[in-house]
Amino acid sequence: MQQAVANRKGTHQAVSVRLEGIVKKFGKVTAVEKVDLELPAGKLVTLLGPSGCGKTTILRMVAGLERPTEGRILFGGEDVTRLPAYLRDITMMFQSYALFPHMNVYQNIAYGLEVTRRPKEEIRERVAEVVRQVGLTGLEERPVAALSGGQQQRVALARSLVMQPRVLLFDEPLSNLDAKLRKRVREEIRDIQQELGITSLYVTHDQEEAMAISDLVVLMNKGVIEQQGDPRTLYTKPISRFAADFIGRANFFEGYYSGGLLQVGTYSQPHQQEGISGRVTVMVRPEALRVSREGEGLEGTVHLVSFLGSSTEFSVDTAVGRLEGVVAGDAPELPGRGEKVRVQFAPQGTFLLPG
Ligand SMILES: Nc1ncnc2c1ncn2[C@@H]1O[C@H](COP(=O)(O)OP(=O)(O)OP(=O)(O)O)[C@@H](O)[C@H]1O
Ligand SMILES: [Mg+2]
Repeated sequence: MQQAVANRKGTHQAVSVRLEGIVKKFGKVTAVEKVDLELPAGKLVTLLGPSGCGKTTILRMVAGLERPTEGRILFGGEDVTRLPAYLRDITMMFQSYALFPHMNVYQNIAYGLEVTRRPKEEIRERVAEVVRQVGLTGLEERPVAALSGGQQQRVALARSLVMQPRVLLFDEPLSNLDAKLRKRVREEIRDIQQELGITSLYVTHDQEEAMAISDLVVLMNKGVIEQQGDPRTLYTKPISRFAADFIGRANFFEGYYSGGLLQVGTYSQPHQQEGISGRVTVMVRPEALRVSREGEGLEGTVHLVSFLGSSTEFSVDTAVGRLEGVVAGDAPELPGRGEKVRVQFAPQGTFLLPG
C-alpha cells in the first residue's frame, strides 16, 4: 500500500537510516558520544532533549553537513558516511525557513527544481502535486510576504517535499510559531509525513510536540541516548528520573517496595513491578494521584485547588512532600483547601525507580 502511494506520487521508496557508534567531537567538546540509532523506513523519529544535548549535531551528520569523528551512517544499507550532503537526497527544514520574500508561492516551491534544470512540464506537475498535499491550492500567485506564519511554514514544507527526498530532516521547525499554530502545523506535518511515508528525523526540545507526532522518541542527555521508545512507553516506563522528569509531569518521593507492597510513609498499598525492590524513588503522574476524605491512604492536607477549564489541578501536603494532582473537568467532589485527605496512587501512573 505504502509502495503504491510512493509510486503514484513519484517519490522514492522509503529507506531506513542507521547510525552506528556515532561520536562527534568539536575540539575538546564531545557533542555526541557513541550513539546507535535506527530510523525505520517511513517512520517519524524525534530527537528530544535539553539544549546542548547534541540533537542538531546528529541531524547535521545525517544531512552530511558534519562528518562523524567515529562511526557509520547508513541509508537503506548503503554507507553514506563519506557522501557529501548534496548527494544524499535529503532535505532539511529549520526554525527560520528563509523563503525568498520577493517571489510568490509557486516560485519559492519550484526554485529547487529549476536550479537542477528539470523540464518545465515536470516542474509544473510536481509543484501542483505538493501544493495540493500541503493545502496551499489557490495561493500559488501570492507573494510569500503576504502569507501568515502557518502558510509560510507550509510553503517551506512544500519546498522540501517537491525535491522528493529520501529522508526529511526537521530542526525545531515550529519554534517561531505561536502555541496554537504550532499545534496545527505539527499535525499537518504528521499527516503529510504519514501519507507520503517519508523517513523523517525531527528535532525538538518540546516533549509534548515529540509525543504528539512521533512513532519513536529518542530522549538524549549530554550527547548520549538516555532512553528510546514509543511515546506511551516513555511516559509510562521511564528508566530514570531524568526521563520521567523530562517527559510529562511527575511527583517524586521516597518509598520502600517489597513483596508486592509499596510503602510510603506509614501507608502501604499493593503494587506490581518486576525487577526492583527495597528503597525506591516513587514516580507518580499527576493524573494518578487519588484523594478522598476517608478510607485508606497517605495522610495529607489539601494545599490548593485550581480550576483551569478542561481540568482541575490540586496539591496536597503529605509526609513525603507536596504532591501535585489533576482531574478532568470541574471536579466539584474534590476536597477543598485545608481539608484533611487520604492519598492513593493509581497503578497506571505510578512507577518505581531505583532509590
Ligand atoms: N561547530 C561547533 N563547534 C564547537 N562546539 C559545537 C559546535 N556545534 C555544536 N557544538 C557543541 O556541541 C554540543 C551539542 O550541540 P547541539 O547544537 O547539537 O545541541 P542541541 O541539542 O541541538 O541544542 P539546542 O536545543 O540548544 O539547539 C554543545 O555543547 C555545543 O556547544
Ligand atoms: Mg539544536
